[in-house]
Amino acid sequence: MKTKILKLTDENREEAAALCRDVFLQGGLVAFPTETVYGLGGNALDPTAAERIYAAKGRPSDNPLIVHVGNFSAARPLVKRIPRKATKLMKAFWPGPLTVIFEKAAVVPEKTTGGLKTVAIRMPSHPFANLMLRRSPVPVAAPSANRSGRPSTTSAAHVIEDLDGRVDLIIDDGSSPIGVESTIIDLSGKEPTLLRPGHISKEELEAVIGPVKVDPAIETAAILSGKACEERPKAPGMKYRHYAPKAPLTVVGGTEEAVIRFLQSQGDQKTGILTVEEHRALFPEAGTVVTAGSRSDSVTMEHELFAALRSFDETDVKTIYAEDLSLYGASAAVMNRLYKAAGGNRITV
Ligand code: TXA
Ligand code: MG
Repeated sequence: MKTKILKLTDENREEAAALCRDVFLQGGLVAFPTETVYGLGGNALDPTAAERIYAAKGRPSDNPLIVHVGNFSAARPLVKRIPRKATKLMKAFWPGPLTVIFEKAAVVPEKTTGGLKTVAIRMPSHPFANLMLRRSPVPVAAPSANRSGRPSTTSAAHVIEDLDGRVDLIIDDGSSPIGVESTIIDLSGKEPTLLRPGHISKEELEAVIGPVKVDPAIETAAILSGKACEERPKAPGMKYRHYAPKAPLTVVGGTEEAVIRFLQSQGDQKTGILTVEEHRALFPEAGTVVTAGSRSDSVTMEHELFAALRSFDETDVKTIYAEDLSLYGASAAVMNRLYKAAGGNRITV
């Protein structure tokens, strides 16, 4: 199919939102910007649209999609009930990078929820995503707009790389402000459970609703020991190899001095190094040095990680070593994505 690419300007936002609405109503797909990463959207109430999303991504269809809404009232008909703690979290963090899991209402097809009886819902704060959703008469199911297994897309250029010819429309609004996907919390069971770390931290959630359990499958130890898959994560997407550049990646931990010394000894043109801006000059011999943000501001790591991982694919490096960014205050979200990109591969030097 021929993909239309539309760059947003101050003047064409309403027109772009109307175009998206038409595509959704015809069962088509739109890649659109959100504050976290780009999404690959289709009508959440149409099982055929969900099938098209899985096909465009090359994604296993047991991996449920997040349903996006533009206001609180659009969420209500999609769920059986809204628990009290969910109301508190929605008031505190919506619109924004928080996805909440509820028991689903019958109107949401099981194709959208990967066969589950629950549904994930999110209200993005990105101005265009929000406008688009408010103009759409149907809620929008949207996974991240990347081919399955690749790093999520944080610019329209990434989306074009992965999905040109596979979707009807791509809306280009520059780089994603946050850069990692939403935090996911499950409120469909007895205890609130964190299923995916994101920009909103566990501590921020706990400040609003009290104790939050962490799904054992997303604990760092489980990812590093390869147990994350056996643990049957409650967010099915967390079991797949993910975010990975083509060359194998290893996270290097230890003291800061030891890590730097180890990376400096890898002076081979075929070796890529992932580090922070402040350290770029420390590795003059290395093949390709890529930075993911600054150690003085961990938010920049979230913003740049996926673009950094993707950029290795434009080089001919055969191996990649990443500094363990937790040494420099990286968030739980960044470390989760980095360890997953490494397929749990971490060494201590
Ligand atoms: O920031 C985000 O959340 C982005 C933007 C586009 O909104 N979307 C996103 O979607 O990251 P995706 O499909 O790449 O990741 C959704 C994750 C998957 O791991 C999936 O298994 C999990 O959410 N998920 C969705 N519905 C679920 C449910 N009912 N129960 C448990 N996990 C669910
Ligand atoms: Mg994804």
